[in-house]
Amino acid sequence: MAESYLDQLDAGLNSVAIFADRRKGKTEFLLDDLDPAAKERGILTVYVNFWEKKSAPSYCINQGIRRSLERDSPKLFKKWKKEISVNFGLVQAKASNITLSNPEIANESLEMLVGNKSRVLIMFDEIQHLATNPDFEELIATLRTYLDGNKKSIRAIFTGSSQDRLNKIFRNQKAAFYRSASLVAFPDMDEDFTAYLAKQFYALTKRKIPKSEIHEIFVEYRCSPFIVVDLLQTMMREGIYDIKEGLGYYLAQSNPTEEWEDLWKGLKPIDQLMLSKIIIPKRAFYHVDTYKLIAKELGVGKVSRGTIQASAKRLRELDILNNEGRGQWVFESDEFKDYIVTEVM
Ligand SMILES: Nc1ncnc2c1ncn2[C@@H]1O[C@H](COP(=O)(O)OP(=O)(O)OP(=O)(O)O)[C@@H](O)[C@H]1O
Ligand SMILES: [Mg+2]
Repeated sequence: MAESYLDQLDAGLNSVAIFADRRKGKTEFLLDDLDPAAKERGILTVYVNFWEKKSAPSYCINQGIRRSLERDSPKLFKKWKKEISVNFGLVQAKASNITLSNPEIANESLEMLVGNKSRVLIMFDEIQHLATNPDFEELIATLRTYLDGNKKSIRAIFTGSSQDRLNKIFRNQKAAFYRSASLVAFPDMDEDFTAYLAKQFYALTKRKIPKSEIHEIFVEYRCSPFIVVDLLQTMMREGIYDIKEGLGYYLAQSNPTEEWEDLWKGLKPIDQLMLSKIIIPKRAFYHVDTYKLIAKELGVGKVSRGTIQASAKRLRELDILNNEGRGQWVFESDEFKDYIVTEVM
């Protein structure tokens, strides 16, 4: 998959965006698969994670570039330190958090990547975070201009977990990245992955777990590599070699649905009803029968269009629902939807 993404970028695609649910292995893929494969092709790689410091995306860019240069390009690193200290009056690269949060330094850092011998691939992780705050819009525009203006040497890959926010950045007519990136799939892993886990488990413990049993659990938990890896690690730690027993122990220790339970319990009653009585059963939003039903469930006299509208807006802001347009509302996370269907409804 890493090779195919790189081929597409080599073939002239300027940037690629992938999104998948939480804990599907995106970050791991960027760092452990894409990064080495790109280096193999002589590409300088930069990893930027916008969650490194949520309040300051410029800081994340600066740190990503600094780390990459320090690790892979001593010459450029020296130049970077000098440039930054000359232009911004910093003593050496002992740049503090505040100075590295400066957008101008981020621009300078980005510019330093251009026009070198090697091509550059910048990996932007948690890109959806840039859609959380209108203050970040300027940075989105800067990145767009930068990528457009340096098509020859700079390629980018964006990764995120919120479909709605990614759409906001990439698909929205007004948004700065419009037309600049193509969304590519990030498919779930398959039997090869669980067979590999079985092999590793055997190598480390000399105990066999049938790979089909591992695969079953992997699929049951929405093909999240996190859960199955965490489970096998727990089993190794506890000396449990039967996967059913291991799962029982694991679930008693760390309940994977706990996060969803907390989210659900934190919702207003109207928002809970919105999800369980309207969105999941696909009931018409703005219909008198819907208003009646919700009023009855809430035990109030009347529910209006505005109430429903406000609830949808809140659920969207909480990243729970995604508006796909034309009245189509879907869950951001299928896991949360599953939780409601199996545990609540
Ligand atoms: N290819 C893989 N091989 C083995 N384990 C993996 C692999 N990919 C992911 N994992 C396991 O799943 C966990 C979660 O992966 P990762 O952090 O990459 O997911 P993510 O999609 O970036 O999640 P988030 O959206 O929360 O950032 C990892 O810590 C690791 O244990
Ligand atoms: Mg991640």
